[in-house]
Amino acid sequence: MDKIILTGDRPTGRLHVGHYVGSLRRRVELQNSGEYKKNFIMIADAQALTDNIENPEKVRQNIIEVALDYMACGLDPIKSTLFIQSQISELCELTFYYMDLVTVARLQRNPTVKSEIQMRNFEASIPVGFFTYPISQAADITAFKATTVPVGSDQLPMIEQTREIVHKFNTVYAPVLVEPAALVPKSEACQRLPGIDGKAKMSKSLGNCIYLADSADEVRTKIMSMYTDPLHLQVSDPGHLEGNTVFIYLDAFCRQEHFERYLPEYGSLDELKAHYQRGGLGDVKVKRFLINVMQEVLEPIRTRRKELEKDIPAVYEILKKGSEEARQAAAQTLSEVKTAMRINYFEDQELIRAQSARYE
Ligand code: TRP
Repeated sequence: MDKIILTGDRPTGRLHVGHYVGSLRRRVELQNSGEYKKNFIMIADAQALTDNIENPEKVRQNIIEVALDYMACGLDPIKSTLFIQSQISELCELTFYYMDLVTVARLQRNPTVKSEIQMRNFEASIPVGFFTYPISQAADITAFKATTVPVGSDQLPMIEQTREIVHKFNTVYAPVLVEPAALVPKSEACQRLPGIDGKAKMSKSLGNCIYLADSADEVRTKIMSMYTDPLHLQVSDPGHLEGNTVFIYLDAFCRQEHFERYLPEYGSLDELKAHYQRGGLGDVKVKRFLINVMQEVLEPIRTRRKELEKDIPAVYEILKKGSEEARQAAAQTLSEVKTAMRINYFEDQELIRAQSARYE
């Protein structure tokens, strides 16, 4: 079977290094692997509105930021279809039909929805659009017959819910939809990269993110201020790795060849960790190493972004073309869905004949 990728992000801010190790890096590899017939990458503006209704301008402004970050990371409009969710009206139609296949109780049990409701203080009054966004996300995925959805592990409940909807649809109507599989990063560090303050997750409101578009100076300052081990006061003290942001980032970013280039006195990350735990290795030395590693990863992204920023209309044009292409794919699926549901009345000669026979 042909493998197809669909994934996306809500445009509520610039993308940060958590997005990068959580999914972006993987998407670029998959795109370049040539193993996928299609790569659909969606800017989920309509989904972003479900919990930003007070701030639609934020969503509007950040579409270009996300597009620039995507392309700066290596998503290539020749190999991938980059598009904007709201421009694909077929997604709304699919959502409307899928709503009949999901119960309120099932949505209430969705762990991602549950925790987001808490985070946003929606307990007292949940917008219906927000509450039902897992259904619309199922439409996003199935409209493109995606087999593979590279995402952060927080999205697993969404993929599970999509699979259930697909199963239900295919059982009730006809097997036209494809059950997708999620692709999440292997390492714990990549799955939930903490903010520089060591807090659970990077978030713009906490001001603890390293953005892909940050300057080299900003990256350096942020890493120097990173949370490490509060018990590691003197260089000679034994250090702890649990919850130590600098080491978690090294887990996510550092490769063997970085040691040869920037810290040749250590053979591997395990050696560095062992020395830290024994005592005698200062935070500043580890931070300097992390700065070198991260600059090496971020520098080419920054440079490409600067180039792309010179021609913003061209980026909108890419999104427009991508949206047109995505729309064709979604329209094809919607047509198959309507046929399966037998609501394609005017193409259904058999129905028209049978109904006229009843009146003969
Ligand atoms: N929910 C995703 C997020 O918050 C964004 C998203 C919308 C998405 N539709 C999608 C991801 C479809 C993967 C597939 O990041």
